Amino acid sequence: MKEGYRIVSGMRPTGPLHLGHYFGVLQNWAHLQETAECFFFIADWHALTTDYADPGAISRFSFEVFLDWLAAGLDPEKSVFFQQSRIQEHAELQLLLSMITPLGWLERNPTYKEIKQELEAKDLNTLGFLGYPVLQAADIIIYHATRVPVGEDQIPHLELSREITRRFNYFYGETFPEPKPLLTESAKLTGLDGRKMSKSYDNAIFLGEDPDSLRSKIKTMLTDTNRMRLKDPGDPEKCNLFPYLKLLDPQEPYEEIVDGCTGASRGCMDCKNQLLERMEAFLEPIWAKRRELQNDPDTVKDIIHQGNNAARSVAGATMEQVRSRMSLL
Ligand code: TRP
Repeated sequence: MKEGYRIVSGMRPTGPLHLGHYFGVLQNWAHLQETAECFFFIADWHALTTDYADPGAISRFSFEVFLDWLAAGLDPEKSVFFQQSRIQEHAELQLLLSMITPLGWLERNPTYKEIKQELEAKDLNTLGFLGYPVLQAADIIIYHATRVPVGEDQIPHLELSREITRRFNYFYGETFPEPKPLLTESAKLTGLDGRKMSKSYDNAIFLGEDPDSLRSKIKTMLTDTNRMRLKDPGDPEKCNLFPYLKLLDPQEPYEEIVDGCTGASRGCMDCKNQLLERMEAFLEPIWAKRRELQNDPDTVKDIIHQGNNAARSVAGATMEQVRSRMSLL
C-alpha cells in the first residue's frame, strides 16, 4: 500500500483528449500515481447531465478516453481506473446526500449558472443537472479521498463537496475527511489559433491525431501576427508556436531561434518544420501504445473490469458504514 494521499479524480467523456489535457491533467496524474493511491474514473453519468440526448456518443468516447489515458502513460498496475456508471454505490450515496443538501447551495453555485447560460440551446432545467455537485461529492467521499486534482474551474464544486461532507459528519458523526483540491501548476497550452485549446474551438491537436492531419494543423498555426513577410522582424513572445517548442524540448538552447526571428533571418516555416519534428517524436510512443491497445480491445476492457471491481469493493464497504450511520440497516 502506498503512503500519503488517497486521490480521486474524474473526467467527463465528451470527446477525444488533446495536448491541453495531456499537459494540463494527464501528466500530473501520471506523476501522482507514483506516490499516492489513485482512483481515476470516467464520469459518464456527469456527461449525461448535459448530453442526455446523445448517450451513444458518451459511451463511444468513454472507450476512447480510456485508450488516451493508457497511451499517455497512466498505469493500471499503479492506479485504479473505473467507469462511474458501473459503481451503483455512487448513485446510492448521491441519493442519501441529496437528503441533506439545501437547494439554495445548488442554485447559488456559480458554475451551475454559467454552464446553463453557455449551453442555452440545451434544456438544463433538470434535477440531474442541478444535482451535478452532489454526485461529484459522492464520487469523492465514497473513497474517503483527501485530495482531488482538478483545474481552477472545479473549485466551486469542490467547495460544495466539502460543505456537504461537513453536514453529513455533523448529522451522522465524523465519517468522511473533507476533500481538498490539488491545483496543478500546469503549463497553459493554447490552441492552434492562440485561444484556449478546446475541441469546440476546433483548434486542438489530439493525442490520437493522425500524422497527415498533424502536419496540416501545424502548418496553419498562428505565429506572430505582426510578421507578414520573412524580412519583417518577429517577436517570439507574441508567437503562439514558440511555447510549444519550449515545452516539447526544454533542454534546447533557444538563442538561435530567437535571434533568427527577431533578426528576420529565420522564417516561421523553419519553426513549423522544427515543431513538427519534435511533435512527432513526442507523439510517436503515444500513437504506438494507442495502436497496440486499439488492436487488443479485450485487454482494455479487462483493465476497466478489474478497476470497476476494485472501486466497487471500496465503495461497497463505505456504503455499509453510511447505511449504519443513517440507521438504514
Ligand atoms: N466535474 C468534473 C469536470 O467536469 C468531473 C468530475 C466528476 C470530477 N466527478 C468528479 C472531478 C470527482 C473530480 C472528482 O471536470
